[in-house]
Amino acid sequence: MDQGTVVNQAEVVGPAFMSSYHQVLRNDLEHVLTPLAHRGQLAEFAEAWRDYRTAASVHTAMEEGLESSGGGGIDLLNHWYEASANAPLSMSFLEEHGQEEEAQRLVTVALAQGHNDLLRALSAYRQVAEAHMDHEEEVLLPLVEQLPPPSASLFSRWCLTAGAASYGFEHFVAHGVTSFATLGSQGSSPERAIAEFLHSLQSGCSEAQWALIHATARAAAYGPIWSSVMAEMSVLQGVGPV
Ligand SMILES: [Fe+2]
Ligand SMILES: [Fe+2]
Repeated sequence: MDQGTVVNQAEVVGPAFMSSYHQVLRNDLEHVLTPLAHRGQLAEFAEAWRDYRTAASVHTAMEEGLESSGGGGIDLLNHWYEASANAPLSMSFLEEHGQEEEAQRLVTVALAQGHNDLLRALSAYRQVAEAHMDHEEEVLLPLVEQLPPPSASLFSRWCLTAGAASYGFEHFVAHGVTSFATLGSQGSSPERAIAEFLHSLQSGCSEAQWALIHATARAAAYGPIWSSVMAEMSVLQGVGPV
């Protein structure tokens, strides 16, 4: 970043909400689940698959919303861009979530049937999941980036409200931090990737929620990198050196 650059919160916060966790899910698919399946480590795969599904379900709730907590990010985009992109936008992504859920179910079934079935089902699931994330990044991210600053924060708040009300929210936070700390992120240092992820959460949450997220993230991060994560967060908040 150039000396003197002022961080644009709208540019950083909104897109990070979606793209940060897509990177976490891609890390899982490429670097954790696929190698375990290829090596036939089925017990380890079962555990990693549970972790992945719990984290992915919180991410999906942030996009779709929950009945108990109201709308998610897609609802906000539909509301904001109502004139141009309402029903088709909502329907296609909800349908893709349904297809992804079914492909996940088939992986779980295949896991009980053995190594070869698992490899086939996981490969099919990866295609569905990765195409869905690519589609969201292609269509939704530009819409998020165009939201004016108050709505960028609103996007975070809608996502976070649904996420925090979901089963496994603390796991979602810890899983994301651990993924970046151990597997890194394409295009960013682990510290920067963790900071962007946490900053997107912080921008939409209450002080009490942030205390929980902060404690959970700190416990999940490797000790030596935590001070660097906090330094990166200061930059994103516009209060630290750039
Ligand atoms: Fe999605
Ligand atoms: Fe997504």
